[in-house]
Amino acid sequence: MSEKAKIILEGNEFELPVITGSEGEKAIDIGKLRDLTGYITLDSGFKNTGATTSGITFLDGELGILRHRGYDIEDLAANCSFLEVSYLILNGELPTAEQLVEFEAKISEHTLVNEGLEAMFKAFPTGSHPMGQLSSMISSLSLYYPKSLDPNRPEEAVKRTIIRLMAKMPTICAMIYKKRHGHPLVYPNNKLDYVTNFLNMTFGQVADPSYMADPVIVDAMNKLLILHADHEQNCSASTVRVVGSSQANLYSSISAGINALWGPLHGGANQEVLEMLEDIKNDGGDVEKYINKAKDKNDPFRLMGFGHRVYKNFDPRAKIIKKACDDVLDKLGVNDPILEIAKKLEEAALNDPYFIERKLFPNVDFYSGIIYRALGFPTDFFTVLFALGRLPGWIAQWQEMRTDKQPIARPRQIYTGAAPRPFVRMNDRA
Ligand code: SDX
Repeated sequence: MSEKAKIILEGNEFELPVITGSEGEKAIDIGKLRDLTGYITLDSGFKNTGATTSGITFLDGELGILRHRGYDIEDLAANCSFLEVSYLILNGELPTAEQLVEFEAKISEHTLVNEGLEAMFKAFPTGSHPMGQLSSMISSLSLYYPKSLDPNRPEEAVKRTIIRLMAKMPTICAMIYKKRHGHPLVYPNNKLDYVTNFLNMTFGQVADPSYMADPVIVDAMNKLLILHADHEQNCSASTVRVVGSSQANLYSSISAGINALWGPLHGGANQEVLEMLEDIKNDGGDVEKYINKAKDKNDPFRLMGFGHRVYKNFDPRAKIIKKACDDVLDKLGVNDPILEIAKKLEEAALNDPYFIERKLFPNVDFYSGIIYRALGFPTDFFTVLFALGRLPGWIAQWQEMRTDKQPIARPRQIYTGAAPRPFVRMNDRA
């Protein structure tokens, strides 16, 4: 017998179905609530509201668990390439060796960016924010592939659009890096694997065709991208689903997700973390002062890289990144005083009642910026790297929303504005 929830409203009792997920999570299905009772629910920021069922990613915030299609993030980060995990997230299964070779080969056919798009890119102001450039470029792909405007084309055509987007994202990200430094673009080398190709387009120089990315950096980059690959219904993934639910095309939906990720409370936090750590260093390294600022309700300062809507324990990705941070800096022989400040800040916060009571632990953004900096990326480029990692997740969420035939997203509201009143002509207004 299926479980029911009972609610009593104005003396009347109503029953609502309860659904149970494959990991035992439970939800009250309120799909018929308004028809049954005339009531809606209200949940600012959707802290208690599920927008969908999904089979892509499972998070347990209390236990600090993150799994993609049933596989623990620890296993994926330790054993896979980013493209392998992308295949898993997009297709639901880990690829065989042959499937991975075919996936990488298909991607290598689409790595170039149309010269017209490149000309548009060159007109972007030097010094404009990399995330604004990225969302503009991804949205503009729809101008060059007009057939992609119909998201309901046969699956083969949709899959080609997905491959095309996966292929061009690293090229566009590398273009943004080059623009920032005023350097000539390095075109894709399709003989290289996905991540090595990205690093070569980024750090390689036209004048030095012999450049090859350091295997330590390639390994760290694969791990970092895997750790960002998907995270269920976060702000940017939800944005992709909402925009896609209107049957907007994939490029527009992903561009919307990029813009949501840009926010400092979301993916923009990795840039904010580094700027915060720099401020603390330049202010003499007094972490206690900044802990107290974060606790002061009258001070808008927040400890960036701490806290999470879902994780009320350590973000499992932060643990992996913290270890990778030590390894990478050690292998690269980088001694970054910022890392020492980060560790002191983490230590102080994890022993402070304010943070303990609110279960504020370091999240994925706390250490990632330190590695990105050690790998040679500028701070305002960090969120672009987050987007590069999150792309397969966004696409998978968009795909699932489509294949589940979800209705257009259109939440309701409770009106709290002015009561009805007679119109006042201009001359009679005070
Ligand atoms: C990402 O959702 C995802 O999965 C996101 C992400 C992904 O992979 O997609 O994991 C990536 O976005 C990670 C989060 C990166 N953002 C930051 O690091 C910014 C700093 N963190 C916060 O602003 C905050 O913790 C959020 C936005 C992450 C979560 O905010 P919530 O869940 O809305 O919690 P809240 O703002 O209601 O805070 C609850 C309490 C409040 O205090 P009280 O009013 O109860 O006294 O905790 C306090 C907050 O003031 N608090 C903090 C804090 N975060 C929360 N106080 C100081 N410093 C902080 N960082």
